[in-house]
Amino acid sequence: MFDPLDLYDADKNNSSVALDFEPSFELDQQLSTGVDEKLEDSKLLENDEDDEDSLLGPIYVLDLPYVAYASPEVILATLHLLRPETQVNFQSTEAVTTEAICKSKDLDKKLQNNIVEWYLNSIQNKKLNTIEKICNKIPSLVNASETERSALLNYYTSILKRYENSSNTSPLKFDILKEVSLRIAECCGRSAIPSMSRDFKFDNMNTMVSLFEPSLTNDNLGWKTWGASLILSKILIENFNSTTNFKPKKSNEPLNVLELGAGTGLVGISWACKWKEEYNLVNSNIQMFVTDLPEILENLKKNVTHNNVGDFVTTDVLDWTNPKPFVEKYNVKENSFDIILVADPIYSPNHPEWVVNMLSKFLKTDGKCFLEIPIRSKYAKEREVLIQLLQENNFEVLNERYDQGVDDWGSVKYLYREIVLRN
Ligand SMILES: C[S@@+](CC[C@H](N)C(=O)[O-])C[C@H]1O[C@@H](n2cnc3c(N)ncnc32)[C@H](O)[C@@H]1O
Repeated sequence: MFDPLDLYDADKNNSSVALDFEPSFELDQQLSTGVDEKLEDSKLLENDEDDEDSLLGPIYVLDLPYVAYASPEVILATLHLLRPETQVNFQSTEAVTTEAICKSKDLDKKLQNNIVEWYLNSIQNKKLNTIEKICNKIPSLVNASETERSALLNYYTSILKRYENSSNTSPLKFDILKEVSLRIAECCGRSAIPSMSRDFKFDNMNTMVSLFEPSLTNDNLGWKTWGASLILSKILIENFNSTTNFKPKKSNEPLNVLELGAGTGLVGISWACKWKEEYNLVNSNIQMFVTDLPEILENLKKNVTHNNVGDFVTTDVLDWTNPKPFVEKYNVKENSFDIILVADPIYSPNHPEWVVNMLSKFLKTDGKCFLEIPIRSKYAKEREVLIQLLQENNFEVLNERYDQGVDDWGSVKYLYREIVLRN
């Protein structure tokens, strides 16, 4: 996988993603012409399978139900089992019990019985003849070796070929086509995945944050949660007291918090969840805005509501190129925010200036901005400009550190800065 922002042209702030994807139906041919031999093979194999090692060993794509032979119910059950695992902090996490796996894969009793019946009676495969063994082994193919994953893609395309055929009249045809299209898209990286939810857990917080992400079509970058927001959220939650109580307030003055370019909302939402855990909301005096561009808003709002912080977090549009509607709607005074949160805001030559304008306009004198930026080699110049503009506009760096974090495509280096606006 790759960083989708590597495909952006910093000069044009534009991107185009070409998917080089050539489906192969080799496996389908193999499967549809070789079913009888395969059944024979699997029965022969079965005699060698009595020892415990072979029962515990891995399975391969060739162990999956034969596309041309298994019933639509069995194929649908298999596709459910191959759904991706839930992600926590950008890492896949496996459900552990059979019951939990069936629940997470939406595998109802009927589908369970169908697939067990296939392995138990139709092909008598001892490695997979109970729902426990099936749940234990089939989902693992999603994270198998590169070779197995490429065989899996062939398996999916063979299902697609069989079920998209107009002569196929199975009542499950459309369920299978929908499910297999999703599996194929999931093989193509985050930029192609239709929509998903991700969970985020933090050491110093009981509440788990769960975020919905629509598909990344139309280059809406705020529809994905970026690694910078996870690192910044961790830092803010670990150091919650020092980041919130840094200056005495007048008793009736609310703490004003603003997030710029919130995207799916991880930083603001996790911070708000921590606030809710720490303080009794009835007695706490806070006003918080999480903001982004209009096209990002609907999903951001949904995430704020879903994570139960909508009672004190307002979600709205704040366009860095035109803050006037936001200012007028909420009667926001110049330099009125105690805290501003920003993760991963720089990916075009205009962004440094726009972001610094927003900080200069909205941050209180002595208020703090917590900023996290990924070290993308392509945006070195924009980072330099940002740092220079901050200096020129009286922002002082109080803390700075580099961290190694993760995003969908692997490890990424990040720069954290805690900055304060001086007179
Ligand atoms: C790379 S994403 C980061 C999103 C989020 N902070 C995170 O780390 O997951 C950049 C965000 O900045 C927002 N953005 C870009 N230009 C903007 C502008 N002119 N006004 C407001 N938000 C903007 C995008 O919509 C997007 O949500």
